[in-house]
Order: sequence, then C-alpha cells, then structure tokens
Amino acid sequence: MRKSPKDIVRVLLTPEQIQRRVKELAAEISADYRRKELTLVSILKGSVVFLSDLMRQLDCHCAIDFIAVSSYRGQVNTSGVVRLIMDLRETPVGKNLLIVEDIIDTGYTMDYLLRNLSTRQPKSLKVCTLLDKPAARRIFIPIDYCGFSIPNEFVVGYGMDYREKYRNLDYVGVLNPRIYEVKR
Ligand code: IMP
Ligand code: MG
Repeated sequence: MRKSPKDIVRVLLTPEQIQRRVKELAAEISADYRRKELTLVSILKGSVVFLSDLMRQLDCHCAIDFIAVSSYRGQVNTSGVVRLIMDLRETPVGKNLLIVEDIIDTGYTMDYLLRNLSTRQPKSLKVCTLLDKPAARRIFIPIDYCGFSIPNEFVVGYGMDYREKYRNLDYVGVLNPRIYEVKR
C-alpha cells in the first residue's frame, strides 16, 4: 500500500527514515549478542513488519518466537488490562530473550510481558521497540533499544493498525483524530 489514504493527516516517518534506523538498531544488537544465542520475541501483531526488517539486518544467529497479548481491544485508548492471547511456542528457559515491539505507549503491555517472561527463567531479557511515546507513559519501562521517540499522537502503518486497518502502509503516519473520536 503506497498511496496515502486521506485518513492519514501527516507522515511521521518515511520508509527511508525507518530503514536507516532499523539498520542502526540491528548493528547495535548484533554487536551486543555476537557470542550469544539470541531469541527475538515478537509481539503480535503490530511488530511483525519491524521484526522482519530487523532480523534480516542482524549479523548474528537468532531464533524467533511470537507471543500475543491484547490491551486496547481495537480502541485507541489503552485500558490497562492486559490479557495473554497466545503464548510462546518454545520454552524461554535459559534463553537470551529480546522482546520486539512496535510501540510503547502507556507501558502496561510491556510491563505485563516483562513480569510474565522474567518469572520463566530466561538467561537475559531485554526490550527493543521501534517507537516510544514517552508522554503517554503510566509506568516505568526500561527500554534497551529504541527506534524513535514520537509525540503523543495515534499512529498507524508499518505494522500498526487502527481496527486492523493500515498495517500495510510502508511508512508511519498520524491517523486523523476524526476517525476514532466519533467512535469513543
Ligand atoms: P501500551 O500498553 O499502552 O504501552 O500499548 C501498547 C500497545 O498498544 C502497542 O503494542 C500497540 O499495539 C498499541 N498502541 C499504542 N499506541 C498505538 C498507536 O499510536 N498506534 C497503534 N497502536 C498503538
Ligand atoms: Mg503491539
């Protein structure tokens, strides 16, 4: 999907900006995990586009696994109640886990995942997020690798959705608040 739908008010990050930053993140991660077995834990569904670009830039061995949680139930405002929808396929015991997330907003989702995964005896546990919205944070999250800090606006594209739409945009754009305000 290349053309800009009219519900996008502004392009926040172009495909070129994203790719350049993903390469930088991958270089950092490759250096940090050079002699370690790495497992990327992708949070479904928003992070799959980021995962697929990031993993192909990594210069180290990595396994991938997926976990699905639900926090905002297709709405724009996060509820704070996080549910596990689908667990990892492989055991996390003894693994160097790197959580790969699209965006950290209130932080409730990542806080839940960090608490859940840390009780399962991983060898190490770190966080990589493409986007960070610091102004929306309700709970402290230690972020090890961050692509971009962005303003407190609802964004879509590059894997991120509003009610399952816009995931296939190749850029990150700000959704017109009109689209979701009427449905609140
Ligand atoms: P948190 O629990 O509030 O940090 O929200 C985390 C999840 O909410 C993310 O993994 C996204 O799925 C979703 N989310 C938060 N902000 C946005 C946004 O601006 N666009 C799309 N999804 C978002
Ligand atoms: Mg997500």
